[in-house]
Amino acid sequence: MDLRLPEPLLSDLEAGGLHCIVFDQVPENPTIASVEAGVHRYRSAKCDSLIAFGGGSVMDCAKGIGARVGNPWLSLRWMEGLFRVLLPPPPLACIPTTAGSGSEATVAAVFTDTERRRKFAIADLKLIPKFTVIDPGLMSDLPPSITAAGGLDALTHAVESYIGRNGSHWSNRKALSALKRIHRWLPQAFRQGSDENARLQMALAAHEAGEAFTRTNVGYSHAIAHALGSFYGLTHGVANAIVLPLVLRWSQPACERKLADLARAIELQSGDDSDHALGLRFIGWIDALNRSLKIPVGVIQLRREDIPMISRSALNEAHPSYPVPRLMTQHDCELLLHQLLTGASPKTLIVDS
Ligand SMILES: [Fe+2]
Repeated sequence: MDLRLPEPLLSDLEAGGLHCIVFDQVPENPTIASVEAGVHRYRSAKCDSLIAFGGGSVMDCAKGIGARVGNPWLSLRWMEGLFRVLLPPPPLACIPTTAGSGSEATVAAVFTDTERRRKFAIADLKLIPKFTVIDPGLMSDLPPSITAAGGLDALTHAVESYIGRNGSHWSNRKALSALKRIHRWLPQAFRQGSDENARLQMALAAHEAGEAFTRTNVGYSHAIAHALGSFYGLTHGVANAIVLPLVLRWSQPACERKLADLARAIELQSGDDSDHALGLRFIGWIDALNRSLKIPVGVIQLRREDIPMISRSALNEAHPSYPVPRLMTQHDCELLLHQLLTGASPKTLIVDS
């Protein structure tokens, strides 16, 4: 971690009489081992609370550290799933430095199990941070690639929350608001990172999308993106961005009206405004946004022989808890993944940041 960013925070806390220990060994996709290293650091320094200062990986890692500190006899793997964090973790404050995961607003944290080549989530109300500080000034130096990956992760949260079957009036309102902000401000934050209003709007969008999906859950884009991430280490937001249009095309027959709502929210009406036409236009808008943000159309690391295993991993994650509008079989998922092998050329190598 570049310590210049949290330096003012550290000196203010010290001035207020709070002594802080910095743990900065968090990989891009936090692993069980990285959580355990944080737990060891927490215990050896006799800490009593946590501040997560960073992106989604840092916030998720802090949630994992807290869950393990609060429940020392439970492994992270045992806590996988819903409501298995039995005792409360120590207080956690989140200060996001990217606009994407919305983890500062959610019950969930995602970890990579390197031994079993899979990602898994733990989700519990006790993981919701006690405090969150959103400061767009912390995001002004983010490179365009991270701005794009974060923004498209937030877009996927908003869209999957809206088209899923768990939506409420409240969550739908949050998802639509996030979508409108992303539509208006993500290209500007990508082009001109120093635009503080664009950064603020994107931070709010990520937060709102987090507030939506923490109540509704996500869908197949996340399940497949997690599987691709655990196999090839792809950046989460980039994997989501690549997969989302394919999942929406496949899901459209079961969510025509909802996709049309999303299109209307960003004013894509013109000429043929049937639900079907609007839905196609919305998916086309995501394709165009991906292109403008330099998102690859395929996954060059993807190997044909891995597809059955990646599909199984994705569907194991999605079923039965993701409230998807249309159920996917193993065969459907494999066909979808094949499109990533044969996507429009030229393919681009995804390099982890
Ligand atoms: Fe996500």
